[in-house]
Amino acid sequence: MAEAPSTNTNLRLSGKIAIVTGGASGIGEATVRVFANEGVRVVVIADIQDELGNQVAASIGNQRCIYVHCDVADEDQVKNLIESTVNTYGQVH
Ligand SMILES: NC(=O)c1ccc[n+]([C@@H]2O[C@H](COP(=O)([O-])OP(=O)(O)OC[C@H]3O[C@@H](n4cnc5c(N)ncnc54)[C@H](O)[C@@H]3O)[C@@H](O)[C@H]2O)c1
Repeated sequence: MAEAPSTNTNLRLSGKIAIVTGGASGIGEATVRVFANEGVRVVVIADIQDELGNQVAASIGNQRCIYVHCDVADEDQVKNLIESTVNTYGQVH
């Protein structure tokens, strides 16, 4: 079940917009979950494993976590990731 968005401003990442590359599994996934638990407004998973990335995002809740396909070895994809995040959420921390 998706976790409810946090309104606790004492959390360390309250209101932040974050991108976690490699966030679909392993250390990246763990980082995504810590960020979500620390009150991040949105955490963007940037990875190449579409199915896993979407599953992780859905398990946190798509209000607070989204998956974007991005191969970090491709400069254009990284630029697009940053631009689309800033365009959608106004900034990235
Ligand atoms: N120094 C250490 O002690 C130590 C310990 C553990 C892991 N590591 C390293 O940390 C890294 C992460 O480890 P892990 O266990 O979380 O691995 P993992 O394979 O579970 O996670 C890596 C993630 O990166 C994604 N990824 C791979 N290539 C990508 C690309 N081009 N663009 C976007 N995403 C990409 C994968 O899809 C995966 O989701 C590895 O390089 C590992 O070798 C180092």
